[in-house]
Amino acid sequence: MLPLRKLEDIIGADGDRFDEIKKRNRDALRDGPDWCRPEELKKSFWRYGVGAPSEPGLNVIPDEATYCDLVQYLAGRLTKKINYLEIGVSVGKSVFQHARAWSDAHMAAVDIEEISSPLREGLGVPADAQPEPWGIVQIFHQGKNPKVKCPSTLRWNTPLNSEFLYHSVDKFKEDLWKRLGDRQFNVVFSDAFHQPESILHEFAALVNNDLIDRDEFVLIWDDITENMEGALRQIASALGTLYGINRVDTALLPILGTYGGPTGKGVHRIGVITKYREGKLIA
Ligand SMILES: C[S@@+](CC[C@H](N)C(=O)[O-])C[C@H]1O[C@@H](n2cnc3c(N)ncnc32)[C@H](O)[C@@H]1O
Repeated sequence: MLPLRKLEDIIGADGDRFDEIKKRNRDALRDGPDWCRPEELKKSFWRYGVGAPSEPGLNVIPDEATYCDLVQYLAGRLTKKINYLEIGVSVGKSVFQHARAWSDAHMAAVDIEEISSPLREGLGVPADAQPEPWGIVQIFHQGKNPKVKCPSTLRWNTPLNSEFLYHSVDKFKEDLWKRLGDRQFNVVFSDAFHQPESILHEFAALVNNDLIDRDEFVLIWDDITENMEGALRQIASALGTLYGINRVDTALLPILGTYGGPTGKGVHRIGVITKYREGKLIA
């Protein structure tokens, strides 16, 4: 088993910097939209990954640190412009906070769901901006009624002048990865389907399409439960071999997710792998 680290191990002497990030995110959430739209969840493809018990928690603004705070802290240690990919966006509470924090970045988001209306509102998507369909429709046979998915991409600039591309598509569709293929991401948050095969498939797609900035990167996976640890190790080892990295910094730590909740509830075990030009994940 990988040792479980504490947040303090990672932020070390940067407590003040981390607190600034936290405050900025809490201010953004207080100023943000109502994330809880039961009717929209009902009409959605897979309820945006929000189970009924979590629904009221969507609007929680937690006091404790969340993985959003950590992603921004880790991204802030990179030297280049942020090139962010989030796989599994849900209603968008995480990408919203990032887009309110980062200016002149490139942001790409992937989810089977259409962009949620709170995210559209929160990130100032122009009313006339429409998703552009592409690719071949997919049919999902679940329950009585088959579901039809037509992939699409919505593109706009955020109020902080970041280019944002929201891809509404099944992440297992190979065309997606080719579409992402005109750039290299230095921050990737994988939060869609928490199974070893799923994150290994994603990783292979990222590598095969040369989508990771091999110079410096921050890769984060949500929900690295015990059965997922082997996959995380395989990824760390493959990164070392493929990109000739002597030491790939890997950590596993408990932290709150975006829905927050009272202390002790909503805690996720996330996996983090970094390569920095200078310094290490844990000093
Ligand atoms: C846990 S939620 C993401 C939470 C979000 N990252 C956050 O921090 O607020 C998981 C999301 O993954 C999406 N998802 C699951 N399987 C997927 C697939 N095969 N392709 C695309 N999206 C998928 C679900 O629709 C859901 O919105």
